[in-house]
Amino acid sequence: MSLATPQYRLTPEEEESVYDPAEDTFLLLDALEKDAQVIRAARPMVVLEIGCGSGVVSTFAANMLDAPCCSLATDLNVLAAQCARRTADLNHASLDTVVGDLAAPLQDRLFGKVDLLLFNPPYVPTSTEEIAGCKEVGRAWAGGINGREVLDRFLPTVPKLLSENGLFYLVALDKNGIDQLLKDNETCCFWCKPSSDSVSRERKILSARANHFDVYKAITTDYDKNVLPVRNISGPMVVSVELTYFYILSMDQLQETITFHTDLGMSWKDENMGWKESKFGGTSKVVIPSSLLWKPDIYVMS
Ligand SMILES: C[S@@+](CC[C@H](N)C(=O)[O-])C[C@H]1O[C@@H](n2cnc3c(N)ncnc32)[C@H](O)[C@@H]1O
Repeated sequence: MSLATPQYRLTPEEEESVYDPAEDTFLLLDALEKDAQVIRAARPMVVLEIGCGSGVVSTFAANMLDAPCCSLATDLNVLAAQCARRTADLNHASLDTVVGDLAAPLQDRLFGKVDLLLFNPPYVPTSTEEIAGCKEVGRAWAGGINGREVLDRFLPTVPKLLSENGLFYLVALDKNGIDQLLKDNETCCFWCKPSSDSVSRERKILSARANHFDVYKAITTDYDKNVLPVRNISGPMVVSVELTYFYILSMDQLQETITFHTDLGMSWKDENMGWKESKFGGTSKVVIPSSLLWKPDIYVMS
């Protein structure tokens, strides 16, 4: 089923300064629609668009999802932020906008929490001065050297923002040097090859997943939580046990009872679970539900 393109209106003042949805905007909508099933299956709770302009992309994404989510967008341009909220209202979607540079205003709060990250950046090659010198509408397209200056400032933030199963969609121009862009940022996330239908004459939609997801899949696929996680099955299994935050809640001398609160921490090395950081874009940590892991049978008895 084809999803409707959101309606939007630019006021005369906004027409002067807000990016009017164009071929790149619609290419991004097509890519989202094509991946709708995958995106919905990931059950995004937090969606963030950088440089929302008219708000058509954020609104489309919010309306495409089955369940309500927290939809946020940033833009340098105050009028864009205002227009994007109006577009969301007009299409019965919920969207909060923040005026600021890239993800800077939200970055600390959204660390590791963004499930769907979207960016149609200013990517037209210009001089560096042109970015600073441009009026608002110029900042919508002026990308500096190779059209990559704004984007290159943003890409290192991507792995920090994405949640474990986070997805990232980005519009890029051939002139941005897409092969080099992917090479320069191969540890940032797990890039998917641009598919042929995500390509217009000179633009591509690049999509990427957080590296965590691939590590998670690779290490859990053949893992059996019922098998002792040591190579030498007759050797010892060393488990360190630590009681932390120990404090007494009550003590009854007559009954000779004591009630206390504590956390039991255990650590061990699981030799059946591991991965090469270099094969997964430098990812060195993942969070895995404990229900999937072998666990020692240690209980505290009173
Ligand atoms: C190519 S337009 C895309 C607009 C909209 N997302 C779309 O697809 O139609 C780029 C947008 O990024 C915004 N922008 C440019 N530099 C930015 C920055 N440093 N931080 C936040 N937004 C920025 C511009 O104001 C503009 O709205």
